[in-house]
Amino acid sequence: MSKRYIRHASELVTCRGQAPKHGKEMADIGLIHDGALLMEDDKIIAVGTTEELDALVNMEECEVLDAAGKTVLPGFVDSHTHFIFGGYRADEFSWRLKGDSYMSIMERGGGINSTVAATRATSLEDMVAVGKERLDTMMEFGVTTVEGKSGYGLDCETELRQLRAMKQLNEEHPLDIVTTFLGPHSVLPEYKGRERDFLTEQLENVMPIVKEEGLAEFADIFCEKNVFSIEDAEYYLNKAKEMGFKLKIHADEMASLGGSELAARVGAVSADHLLQASDEGIRQMAESGVISTLLPATAFSLKEEFARGRKMIDEGCAVAIASDLNPGSCFTNSIPLLVALGCIYMHLSVEEVITALTINGAAAVDRADTIGSLEPGKQADIVFLKYPSIHFMPYHTAINLVDTVIKKGKTIYKK
Ligand code: NIG
Ligand code: FE
Repeated sequence: MSKRYIRHASELVTCRGQAPKHGKEMADIGLIHDGALLMEDDKIIAVGTTEELDALVNMEECEVLDAAGKTVLPGFVDSHTHFIFGGYRADEFSWRLKGDSYMSIMERGGGINSTVAATRATSLEDMVAVGKERLDTMMEFGVTTVEGKSGYGLDCETELRQLRAMKQLNEEHPLDIVTTFLGPHSVLPEYKGRERDFLTEQLENVMPIVKEEGLAEFADIFCEKNVFSIEDAEYYLNKAKEMGFKLKIHADEMASLGGSELAARVGAVSADHLLQASDEGIRQMAESGVISTLLPATAFSLKEEFARGRKMIDEGCAVAIASDLNPGSCFTNSIPLLVALGCIYMHLSVEEVITALTINGAAAVDRADTIGSLEPGKQADIVFLKYPSIHFMPYHTAINLVDTVIKKGKTIYKK
């Protein structure tokens, strides 16, 4: 039995209470000045002020961690990534800098399909090796749980290999990985005009194996103009739901197709991207409780307008923020960049951004009952920042402030 006791945190952010947090509730992060937290093994057992906990805790029984001058938060949850892939697309980034668009590169055979070719040529061992490096950089940014998608195989063998690589990493790396099947991520040339056949192939031949081996919890689809239509996405998502998958959607990214409304209709856990979500889509996400996951580093990298996060919160949505780390539209998993974009360009408060990266991120991966806040009974996933207040997060712009990361009660990173 091992007890660890954190004392004198200048600010301790709990994000406690009902989850997810919708609308105005997102600004309430349950901040405690001169905060303290007691953990035992992998769980939090008490949270309060240092004065309150000092009265309860026998310090001789504990390892004491002094957090004076520091901010203590729940570990961040990066709830949307594509971190397992082969090859890179730096050339495409440079073409876009000269004026090319993401969709025109995709239509010329580049984009996702070029990563598909590189990923098919990548072995399980190489996926695991590079995946480990990427998880290490996430950990340094204070991420303690990450969602990862397949979707760069499109064929059975490679989709399964991507998911198996994540399963292995989940066992070998301290971070927790939540996996998503994204077979319908792109349409290969041989399936152009026969998208339904491709979906049926995934549903009948690939997804039963994914289910049987317990390789993915969620199913996702890229619903977009010239990729998968609303009708195709609805067909696929309903079938996936019948098979027992929880649902996510790449929705309303480049074109306003009604992906947000579809997410509400099929009962998706989250709708992601949403740059072009309509007023009606925003209203329906708020009403149905679909988590609106915003990926501001993608909009930034593509030089697109940001999603209307301010309006979503004002309308009562539960907003999460994630990186979308992938080799094409967004090759970054920088949490400080997300904080800066959320606060400076999307007009969210620091408190709202913290909620979006913690408890609402946890809800987006259906883990809000175990992670995302610092409350008794929850997993001890904790981050220390080296400055005394949350307000340093956007102010020390795009700089990594993480000092210590604790996962399931153990220190896994110290700067
Ligand atoms: O979420 N939009 C679709 N999928 C990814 C991009 C994948 C890629 O370009 O390789 C995204 O942005
Ligand atoms: Fe994505």
